[in-house]
Amino acid sequence: QNTASLVIQSKSDHTVSRHIYGHFSEHLGRCIYDGFWVAPGLDVPKKDRIRLDIVEALKKIKIPNLRWPGGCFADEYHWRDGIGPRDQRPKMVNTNWGGVTEDNSFGTHEFLDLCELLHCEPYVSANVGSGTVEEMAKWVEYLNFDGVSPQSTIRTQNGHPAPFKVSFWGVGNESWGCGGNMTPAFYADQYRRYATYARDYPGAPLKRIASGANSFDYNWTETVMKQVPVNDMWGLSLHYYTIMNGWNDKGSATSFDEKQYFATMKNCLLMDSLVTKHSAIMDKYDSRKKVALVVDEWGIWTNVEPGTNPGFLYQQNSLRDALIAGTTLNIFNNHSDRVRMAELAQTINVLQALILTNKEKMLLTPTYHVFDLYKVHQDAAYLPITLNSPAYKSGNEEIPAVNVSASRDSSGAVHISFVNLNPKEKITVSTSLDGVQWKGVTGQILTSAKFTDINTFEQPDKIHIVPFSGAKKQGDKLVVELPAESVVVLELK
Ligand code: AHR
Repeated sequence: QNTASLVIQSKSDHTVSRHIYGHFSEHLGRCIYDGFWVAPGLDVPKKDRIRLDIVEALKKIKIPNLRWPGGCFADEYHWRDGIGPRDQRPKMVNTNWGGVTEDNSFGTHEFLDLCELLHCEPYVSANVGSGTVEEMAKWVEYLNFDGVSPQSTIRTQNGHPAPFKVSFWGVGNESWGCGGNMTPAFYADQYRRYATYARDYPGAPLKRIASGANSFDYNWTETVMKQVPVNDMWGLSLHYYTIMNGWNDKGSATSFDEKQYFATMKNCLLMDSLVTKHSAIMDKYDSRKKVALVVDEWGIWTNVEPGTNPGFLYQQNSLRDALIAGTTLNIFNNHSDRVRMAELAQTINVLQALILTNKEKMLLTPTYHVFDLYKVHQDAAYLPITLNSPAYKSGNEEIPAVNVSASRDSSGAVHISFVNLNPKEKITVSTSLDGVQWKGVTGQILTSAKFTDINTFEQPDKIHIVPFSGAKKQGDKLVVELPAESVVVLELK
C-alpha cells in the first residue's frame, strides 16, 4: 500500500545553516558573462553591468552566499588581472570552458558589488593550482586589511577604501583534478602552507575551506583530516554531480524515459550515503564536528542543449531537476550537524541553473522554485525525523519514494518539506509530531503533468508554485496526500 509513516521530534540540538542554500557562479559559458554581467546595450534594468532582474529573483529566495570565480577557472585565475580600469585589464584564454577570451571586465570589485546587491556573503575560491602563496596572501590583504598597506592602498585607488571583509575562503578547487592533479598528501601540505599566509586581519577572520574529495574518494577526506589540524580549517569540501548515464554521454535534460528517470534519482540519492561516509571519516578526527562538510558543487549534469557550445554547459531544467533539488536539500538538512554549507552548480545558464536567459528575457526554472519553497529552513532549528517510506520500484531495483526534512523557525512555525519521487502514484504520509504544538496547516506544492516538463521563454510559468490543500489535521496526526512527482512544503502553526 502506498502509505508512509513519519515521526517528527520537537527537540532540536542545532540549526540548519542558511549557507546550505548557497550558489556557485563560475566564469563558464553564460553564467557571469551574459548572465549576471551583461552587455552595456542590453535593454534590462542594470547597475553598472549587473542585471537587476536577476538580483531581485535571487534576493527573493534569500541567497545566503555565492561562490566565485570557479570551479576549474579559479585555479587559472590571477586576481590582479581583474582590478583597475577595465580597458587596461589584460585578457586571458578560458582554457577550461570553450577556449573563449576572458576580458576580465568582471573581477573582484564587480563580484563584491554583486554580493552587496544580493545581500549575500561572498565565497572566494582562490588559486592554488597555478598561483603562488604570495598571490593568495596579497588577495586576502587587498580584500580584508583595514589600515595602510600596499594592497589596501591599491584597493583605495580602485575606489574602495573600506575593507570588504570576505570570510569564506576556498584554498584551491578540485586539487585532485583540474586544480593541479595533486595527491591528497601533497595537497594537505599545500593547504597548510597557503592557509598559513592567508591571514586573519583584525575584524576579518577567514573561514578557510580545504579542497575536498571527488564523490567516493574517501581516501582524500581521510588524508586531509589526518594531516591538517582541525583548528586550521573551517570546512572541507565535497563535489558530487548527479549523472544519468556516464560521463561520456550524460543523457538529455529534456527527453528521457521512466527507466532513465529512475536511474537519475537513484544516483541523486547516493548523496545521502556519500555525506554519511565522509562525515563518519571526519568524526574520527573531529568528534566535536568543528569542521564543516561543504558540498560546494552539486546538481544534475546532462548533455548540453543541442546546438549550444559544448564548453558552455547550458542545459534545460525540468520537473526532474526540481525533484533532485528537493531531495538533495532534504539530505543536507538531515545532515546539518556536519553539512553547514553547500552550493548548487551553477546559478545562471550553466548546469542545474536557477535562471535561464535569452537576451533580455529570463525565466525561473523549476529548481528556482524549490529554493523558494525551502527558504523557510534557513537558520531554523533542525527537527529530527524518522521516516518509513514505501519503495518506488523499477525492474528489480528500488529506492525510497518519499524523502522529508523538518525545521522550526524563530517564530515557532514548523516547516516540513516532502518529495514524492514516484512519478505515477500518490502517497499518503501519516505523521506524528512528538511534542510539537500546532493548530493548523497550510502548504504549497510544485509539480507538473510530466517529469520532462520545463519552463520555456515562450511559457515561462508552466511549472510554478501553487497552494496545496492535501494536508489535514486528524486528531493529533498530520495526514498528507502527496501527489506523484511533487515537492510539497507545509507550515504548521
Ligand atoms: O561546475 C563545473 C565544473 O565541475 C567545475 O568547474 C569543476 O570544479 C567541476 O569539475
